[in-house]
Order: sequence, then structure tokens, then C-alpha cells
Amino acid sequence: MDIVVTKSYEEMSQYAAAFLIRRMAKKGRVNIGLATGNTPTGMYSFLVQHLNLGYNIDNVHFYNIDEYCGVNGTENGTCTRYLQDNLFQKTEVIKKENIHWVHEGSYQTLDEEVGKQGGFDTVILGIGENGHIAYNEPGTPFSTLTHLVDLTDASKMQHSEEFGGYNNVPHKAVTVGVKTIMNAKNILLLANGPKKARILKEGLTGPITEEIPASVLQLHPNLYVFTDVEEVANL
Ligand code: PGA
Repeated sequence: MDIVVTKSYEEMSQYAAAFLIRRMAKKGRVNIGLATGNTPTGMYSFLVQHLNLGYNIDNVHFYNIDEYCGVNGTENGTCTRYLQDNLFQKTEVIKKENIHWVHEGSYQTLDEEVGKQGGFDTVILGIGENGHIAYNEPGTPFSTLTHLVDLTDASKMQHSEEFGGYNNVPHKAVTVGVKTIMNAKNILLLANGPKKARILKEGLTGPITEEIPASVLQLHPNLYVFTDVEEVANL
């Protein structure tokens, strides 16, 4: 586990963008799983600045790692809309055919398709206040591949603002599984702010248990954590 504790959210975001640029510079196909939410917004902003300097990333393929069910991807709060607004529509260097949408109609074949293409080089993750990673909620077996989930109240509360209120948050989502994440060559975990301090420390140092999905990341050989949470310095 490689943990970098940064001075600020901005620095965390810059480091994370630089990490991705390095991965994208690899020869051959590079598959990247993209997190959404408040945490990676700064990283996407720096990434777009880099890419718009004129990189050729025709070798890089992008996948969202989760999406709500029953809502149109143009709606606020959806992962599709988020990635369009924060990444894909802000740069011309990403080809349309390199963007792969994971949703309720396509999730069943994701693991097989990515596997055939060499697997994920990097999956980017945030961490939920309840320890979820992508939308693998507490109690999800570590053996799961991409699947449908019922969202917990905690997750709906956490994301209620993005949908204009708790009652508007969809009840179900599609998510890459814990095993999908663990199959990636590299995992980039981002967490910022005091609200994430307790769960980040617990996930990285506590018992490895399905009740805290993020705890499984302790077992990954190439876990990179960028965070402004000082409590995890010197682990
Ligand atoms: P956030 O969400 O980045 O908006 O805090 C992270 C998550 O719920 O996984």
C-alpha cells in the first residue's frame, strides 16, 4: 500500500491526475475505471488541463464503474452526466469509441469484455462514509463481479443533494464488483475531508471484513492512496 498524504484537496487532485497521466502513457491498451462523486472532481479538472495540452491517448479506454438504475444518463446526479460534464465534454482527445458505458442494460458482460481486453489497468475509487467502494455496500461478498445493488439509506443520504433530495435518489444501481476492482492491476483510492477520516483509517487499518468493503483493498498488491486525511500518515 502506497499512501500519499497531501496538504490540500487541490494537491491530492494534482497527484492523482499525474498518476493517471503516467498510466495512460503506457504502450498498448489501457483500460481505466472511473469513479464519480465530489471527491474526484478536482482530479478530472487537472486531468483535462493535461490532456488538452495535446496528448494522444487513443490507446486508453474509459469505463464508468457504477450507475443508478431507472434514470436517464442526462439527469443530474447520474454517473453518466457527471463524467460527461467533468471529463468527456471538456476535452477532444478522448474518442467516442473509447468510452464504454456500464449501465443496467450492459453490466452483465462487463467483466468478460474488460477481461478480453487485458483487464483494468487502473480503477479509480472514492470511499463512501459507510465504507462502500463503487456501489459495493456493506455486506457485499468479496467474490462479486459487476452486479445490481439495492442502495442503503446511508448511501442515498450521502448522495441526496446531487438528486435534489433524498426522495429522488434511485433505489438501485449497477456497480463493478469487489472482485472486479481487486482484479485491476492498480487501484487509485482518493479520500478527502474530515467526513472521510474515520472510515478511511478503519478501511486501511481495521479488520478485513465484508462489512467494510474498502477493507479488502488492504489485500491489493498495488493500492495507491492519495488523501488529505492526516490520520493515515505513517501507516
Ligand atoms: P463522494 O462519494 O466522492 O461524493 O464523497 C464517494 C462515494 O460515495 O463512493
